[in-house]
Amino acid sequence: MKKVAIIGAGNVGSTAAFVLARKPYTITLVDVVPGIAEGKALDIQQSTAVFESPAKITGSMDYTAIKDAEVVIITAGVARKPGMTREDLLKINARIIGEVCSHIKIHCPNAIVIMVTNPLDAMCHVALKALGFPKERVMGMAGVLDTARLRTCIAQHLNVAVLDVHSTVLGNHGDAMVALPEHTMVGSVPLAELTSPETIHQMIQRTKNGGAEIVALLKTGSAYYAPGAAAAVMAQAILEDSKRILPVCAYLEGTYGIQNIYVGVPVLLGRKGVEQIIKLSLGRETLQELLASAQQTASLLKSL
Ligand code: APR
Repeated sequence: MKKVAIIGAGNVGSTAAFVLARKPYTITLVDVVPGIAEGKALDIQQSTAVFESPAKITGSMDYTAIKDAEVVIITAGVARKPGMTREDLLKINARIIGEVCSHIKIHCPNAIVIMVTNPLDAMCHVALKALGFPKERVMGMAGVLDTARLRTCIAQHLNVAVLDVHSTVLGNHGDAMVALPEHTMVGSVPLAELTSPETIHQMIQRTKNGGAEIVALLKTGSAYYAPGAAAAVMAQAILEDSKRILPVCAYLEGTYGIQNIYVGVPVLLGRKGVEQIIKLSLGRETLQELLASAQQTASLLKSL
């Protein structure tokens, strides 16, 4: 069976495992906290008896368990705590990602790596450097989640099936994300024909604030169902070589005029990872927003 490793068996990692467990995959969870990966794996394994899946799920603290994984999803890290600056978080998670990548290099040197740990765009750079893999094999999950949030918002507002809302969100994960209302269709009708510019603006703002909205409701903790599902869908597109076109945090070398920076763009995902970067024709303003997104990541990296 195809093998996926998930590093970090917390909320996002275990949710990704739970979503992938409906497929005939071997799934290995790894975590530093004793028992957590084993416990989550056993719970998920028992669920496969209920929904009748042949998936095999294991958990471990030992990285030899990830041997020969074809895809690795990295969710290991700490969440930002009160009093911690963005730079503090960046440094702590960069150290964790560096350590995790040293194990991936040894045990599955041919894997394709999907980064989930925040701050996402910067962590992709840390992983690329630490792994020394080709850029096609190191990517980040953000656009699938942000796009799902925007599509849900539009579907709820217009009271239509979310399946019929087609959109894409580019740029960074966070305030600098770039929504593309001009590329958003409901059925085959452009969004702009169905609602006012003010409402579209509000929906985009809500999407930008999507993670914070959930944090405010939960009081403790952050979103994990949609993030876990988004990482799982990317892993599946790679394992199944399904050539899906999804918004992914990918390393750009000139496309959109952006050099040597990770930024969210539409890509073709297949067995080789990021098989192609899709170039959309963007308006001048949108292109500026995308460049600003890349610039924000470049500045953040300077503090590392
Ligand atoms: N090696 C392996 N696992 C680690 C390490 C490490 N060096 N350091 C921390 N972890 C594990 C923690 O023990 C924890 O179980 O990573 C897991 C993180 O899980 P949660 O704290 O539940 O966080 P989660 O909500 O899953 O988010 C994970 O994804 O969306 C992002 O911002 C989010 O960066 C965060 C990441």
